[in-house]
Amino acid sequence: MRSGLLQILKPVILKAIPSEGNQAMSLSQLARSICESPTLKLNETAAILKEKGEPVIHLGGGEPKSKAPIDAIVNCASLLRTGDVKYTPADGIPALKKAVIRYTEEQYGRLVAPENVIASSGAKQSIMVLLHAILDPKEEVIFPVPYWVSYPEMVKLAGGVPVAVTARDGSFQPTVEEIAEAVGPYTKAIILNSPNNPSGVVYSDEFVAGVVELCEQRNLYLLMDDTYNRLIFDGRTPSNCYRFTKVQNLESSKLVVINCVSKMYAMTGFRIGWAVGNRTLIRAMANIQSQETSGPAAPSQWAAVGALNGVQSSIESLRLTLENNRNVMIKRLEAFPGVRVVKPGGTFYCFPDFSAYEKDSQKLSRFLLDKVRVVAVPGREFGMEGHLRLSFCGTLKDITEGIDRIKWALDPSSPNELYLGDRKLTRDWK
Ligand SMILES: Cc1ncc(COP(=O)(O)O)c(C=O)c1O
Repeated sequence: MRSGLLQILKPVILKAIPSEGNQAMSLSQLARSICESPTLKLNETAAILKEKGEPVIHLGGGEPKSKAPIDAIVNCASLLRTGDVKYTPADGIPALKKAVIRYTEEQYGRLVAPENVIASSGAKQSIMVLLHAILDPKEEVIFPVPYWVSYPEMVKLAGGVPVAVTARDGSFQPTVEEIAEAVGPYTKAIILNSPNNPSGVVYSDEFVAGVVELCEQRNLYLLMDDTYNRLIFDGRTPSNCYRFTKVQNLESSKLVVINCVSKMYAMTGFRIGWAVGNRTLIRAMANIQSQETSGPAAPSQWAAVGALNGVQSSIESLRLTLENNRNVMIKRLEAFPGVRVVKPGGTFYCFPDFSAYEKDSQKLSRFLLDKVRVVAVPGREFGMEGHLRLSFCGTLKDITEGIDRIKWALDPSSPNELYLGDRKLTRDWK
């Protein structure tokens, strides 16, 4: 029985291209159904306002502010210095595959072959070619709410139907039974992202084990999006989905692990991610990638090799900074009357519930940008109204001042005036 709490996501939820525009340009149905990335759009808006000299605080960001590891830069620069920058194999250079094999062995205790690995232009492309490789039209992909904004649109781009499952108890982690209720004849895959963007929640071992078992029983693909796998707090150890699989032979397994250098190594601009899975699937993904974009950019792949094989201390120092930032943000939010917050166990996001102040998260996000120049991503984009995604990957000053500004704007007991730099704001709203 498919429960009432799962949502088959329709394209109308977010802003697609306006109808006047697409009629004149005769755009495809697909193009009309796909929405721009709300987080990238907010980055753009923040950059434009900043350029105009506005005192914007960006709590909507999705990238650490630290620099790429030196080993990444040295490796990349060595290639650039030769001037010999050419096409690469469609599934990645052998040196990067080798580094990924080592990473997989060290982090997951799994020995895989080069044929089990594909490197792509970011985790995003790995997920995209994977969906293209497995989905027939109208097949469904399930993921828990709240979800990363791109999953629904990526599933639609690949011709599939996104199915979001909301926990009945209102928490950020549905039960395995709730996920199982969403499985139907058209279900092809489940995506789990832990720690989760946007909630920061680390799914429990019981939940991940249950979903691995469900996928193996029902012959479904399971995409473990481990983008934030090592950015975890409170002494946790990174979770390892392979621990729960009964299918020990990778070639018979539909478990696929996605990773990237983007967040853990603060290398978002290099655009390198990868997938590890059975070789039939990886070959199909490589064929698709070869026709879509060819192999990822050579300098970026060499940079990723440097990061993966080089000194690893940058991850720990980023992790420690983020844990401290999280503590500061949570403390301030907990002192905010009416706001409900779940302490994130990882990532650099938290997802407080502001519905006591405003239930419409897009309206709230616009209000905060208009009134106090704070960027926050509306929860609606992640499948949960009333929430805002606030990032703690910026500076401590931005975190504290950002939350203080939000509090000033929302809390009716705030003083009447606030200074943003040398600009005096007066509350003319209730
Ligand atoms: C959950 C999740 N998966 C994948 C990605 C994409 O990573 P990349 O920048 O390597 O494409 C992101 C980026 O925000 C993410 O949050």
